[in-house]
Amino acid sequence: MVYFTIDKVYYYIFGGNALEKLLITGKTPLKGEVTISGAKNAAVAILPATLLINGICTIENLPNISDVKISCKILEELGAKITWNSKNEITIDTRNVCCTNAPLDMTSKFRASYYLLGALLGRCKNAQVGMPGGCNLGARPIDQHIKGFEALGANVEVGQGKITASVKKLVGNSVYMDVVSVGATINVMLASVLAEGTTTIDNAAKEPHIVDVANFLNTMGADIRGAGTDMIKINGVKELKGNATYSVVPDQIEAGTFMLAAVASRGDIKIKNCITKHLEPITAKVIEMGGNVEEIGGDTLRVWCNKRPSKANIKTLPYPGFPTDLQPQIGVCLSIADGNSTINESIWESRFQYTEELNKMGAKITAQGKSAFFEGVKKLYGSPVCATDLRAGAALIIAGIIADGQTKISNLQYIDRGYENIEEKFRNLGAKIERINEEE
Ligand code: UD1
Repeated sequence: MVYFTIDKVYYYIFGGNALEKLLITGKTPLKGEVTISGAKNAAVAILPATLLINGICTIENLPNISDVKISCKILEELGAKITWNSKNEITIDTRNVCCTNAPLDMTSKFRASYYLLGALLGRCKNAQVGMPGGCNLGARPIDQHIKGFEALGANVEVGQGKITASVKKLVGNSVYMDVVSVGATINVMLASVLAEGTTTIDNAAKEPHIVDVANFLNTMGADIRGAGTDMIKINGVKELKGNATYSVVPDQIEAGTFMLAAVASRGDIKIKNCITKHLEPITAKVIEMGGNVEEIGGDTLRVWCNKRPSKANIKTLPYPGFPTDLQPQIGVCLSIADGNSTINESIWESRFQYTEELNKMGAKITAQGKSAFFEGVKKLYGSPVCATDLRAGAALIIAGIIADGQTKISNLQYIDRGYENIEEKFRNLGAKIERINEEE
């Protein structure tokens, strides 16, 4: 009998190479221009949302990342026909989707597979997905998703590693979210688009990708109002016809990653194709740390920093607060700051695993529970480190770029889930970074 490790199964299903590492030779101030890709978190919701359409649509500005490729594979398994027009654009025909179950091995591999629940409930009146996987950031409950589906009349069961939901007819209702949840807000929105009557979501999340998913659905024929506020109203419609083209919003988190890389490396970069309004919480902290931000035209930010970052205190919050998905990246800035800083992580209970990796590079960070204390050091030193999750991986790249000596980052499958061409983008800014294939 042949035994596979979890990692080998992942690579077997989704491609990639477990032996790949990023080798970075540090101490480079980043200079030049970078163009931001479409938002991962919008794309992984828009793709399942196409299941609600009985027609053809084209999606532009899709980030070419592994989470998108997995989503497309799952849609194809369900009967959708996908044509890749370019590496960032697909045309998808969902007329022949058959209401069978999504493959459990694929759906349990990434977090956003939970959107298949809302989308398949809406289209097929029943859905089954594997317990969502994704980055290990601590407990990731889905009680608010379930509460929303049940309010619309669905029967939901969780057990044996999967979630099943079914309903005879979805009927609109009022849903109050006990916690502000991006995933639950989008999922209830998906389930209610084709429901009978009106659904309201109170205490809804307001992240840019929620607005983007609502805009996508409205372009295809839905009637959703208020996305981006804490009260969303969805008037159910009979059908989504599609026959339209939609462009995914630029990635707020990718843009923020480069802003913080500019500060940490004392660089000077232009970040193109971003929505500057979405970046205001990050801009405020960049300025507090002694960096500079200038808006150029409507969609470009120049970010530069001439000195060691100043200390700052951070508390992560739902949008428009400082995003938890940029917490590790700003942690790198604070690790080399002039003075001591604290980060309070209010969204995820276990998002400081990256601090142990930074400490291997000479940082002095003490993390306990949901907060971490950063004693600023003058510099970091290159070291072998391991990406413990997607954003931790991005943070370690920034750390490698500013460190003295060589850094080797393993576990790239996390980074590839959410950043398109990351090493090429950093290389174009002057970083000495390459992907190597190394036998363990
Ligand atoms: C999404 C993002 C993720 C980001 C997070 C917070 C995607 C695919 N992922 O994750 O990158 O870090 O938003 O901005 O978009 N909660 C509950 N019950 C629920 C749902 C959530 O208690 O049913 C809690 C969570 O434990 C967490 C908080 O609510 O403490 C926020 O979670 P949520 O916004 O749902 O995160 P995700 O949608 O999983």
